[in-house]
Amino acid sequence: MTAMPINSPSPSAIVLDPVVHAANLSALQYVDGVLNMDGLALDVLAERFGTPCYVYSADAMTAAYREYTDSFASVPHQICYAVKANSNLAILHLLAQLGAGFDIVTGGELARVLAAGADPSRVVFSGLGKQPADIARALAAGIACFNVESEAELARIDRVAGEIGKRAPISLRVNPDVDAKTHPYISTGLKENKFGISHQDALRVYQQAASLPNLDVVGIDCHIGSQLLDAQPFADALAKVVELIEALVQIGIHLQHIDLGGGLGVRYIDEQPVSVAQFAEYLLPTLKRLDMKLYLEPGRSLVANAGVLLTRVDILKPSAHKNFAVVDAAMNDMIRPALYQAEMGVIPTRLTDDAQPAKTWDIVGAICETGDFLAKNRVLSLAADDVLAITGAGAYGFVMASNYNSRPRACEVLIQDGTAHLIRARETVESLWQLEHIIK
Ligand code: LLP
Repeated sequence: MTAMPINSPSPSAIVLDPVVHAANLSALQYVDGVLNMDGLALDVLAERFGTPCYVYSADAMTAAYREYTDSFASVPHQICYAVKANSNLAILHLLAQLGAGFDIVTGGELARVLAAGADPSRVVFSGLGKQPADIARALAAGIACFNVESEAELARIDRVAGEIGKRAPISLRVNPDVDAKTHPYISTGLKENKFGISHQDALRVYQQAASLPNLDVVGIDCHIGSQLLDAQPFADALAKVVELIEALVQIGIHLQHIDLGGGLGVRYIDEQPVSVAQFAEYLLPTLKRLDMKLYLEPGRSLVANAGVLLTRVDILKPSAHKNFAVVDAAMNDMIRPALYQAEMGVIPTRLTDDAQPAKTWDIVGAICETGDFLAKNRVLSLAADDVLAITGAGAYGFVMASNYNSRPRACEVLIQDGTAHLIRARETVESLWQLEHIIK
């Protein structure tokens, strides 16, 4: 038998100390070499619920939410969780019970938050293609505000409100042309991005809004991007929004609230994002001077590090050039690495003394695409059947999953009060063609 070649780590290999990595993410800790979430062993949960499986911590989400409310306690505020980050009903219900409002972008998300028990008066409706039927439903429910992204949308909301005899509270989403210094696909506040109304058009569009019969002009909104690590771009955007607020006062338009969007980044590998408390410290002096209610729309920073994706190593495929570990999760379960070249943590759920020597592995799925990878160049000691945890998976994980290759979507589990609850069952293969018809 010839010895397997052991690849030397490539210069870009990521070596994560699993214990240190877990310690940096509030929900995870190793207890006697076993990775726990809130006191429950993750490899036991993998056995019980099967893999791939998303597992979330209610405690970590609660702590992240409270960090926002504590940090902004000195100004009137409403935290509106961006539903797109993770829209499972159990999670929406948990956050609604904590007092969260919600930032929605579709009629589907409106229906979800209402089904989860949200208070509609704490819901803001963002998104650049709101449909008339969804606008009508949101008006009937009595949401707090529509964040309007274009003149055509303004006219549409006014018309729908008139048709059903309601007044629509609106904000304009202003595009402040600020570089958020994040991945181009998740940067939204530059003038070349499709979002918002440009800073120079904003005054004119506000005047137009104020002249429409069925609208109440109540606020101003911006969202400049996602996974921002510094507070400076937020401060730059705030400065531009404040300029507009002051100019609006000059023309007799007095707003009640300012919505600074979401976007605060999280630690995936070794990023050092500004903390919520530091972010607040940075913005509070200006916000206090304004004397307006603050809305924030965080998504990722409330849920990303409260979740992991558990996956089992299926086949190890070492070679002279590259070592591949084929796992049972794939790009259909977690598309962030393929879509944004996102680096996410991958750590073992059990540290053993008799571990294999570490090698540099690409962690890949079994889908027929070269883009199907979950991580590249990770130094890990792996054996078939090991269960790995992909960290930072609580946000933009399950919600972006697909059925590509007819793969049923994974199950979701929430740990709450020390118990693991199945909050979404694994899909069955048969359910995948339930809406399809054979032409006879
Ligand atoms: N508000 C608006 C209007 C947004 O468009 C977004 C995110 C948020 C709030 C929440 O931003 P967060 O706090 O989560 O950064 N799928 C990508 C992220 C896309 C974010 C899109 N907009 C990813 O996996 O990185």
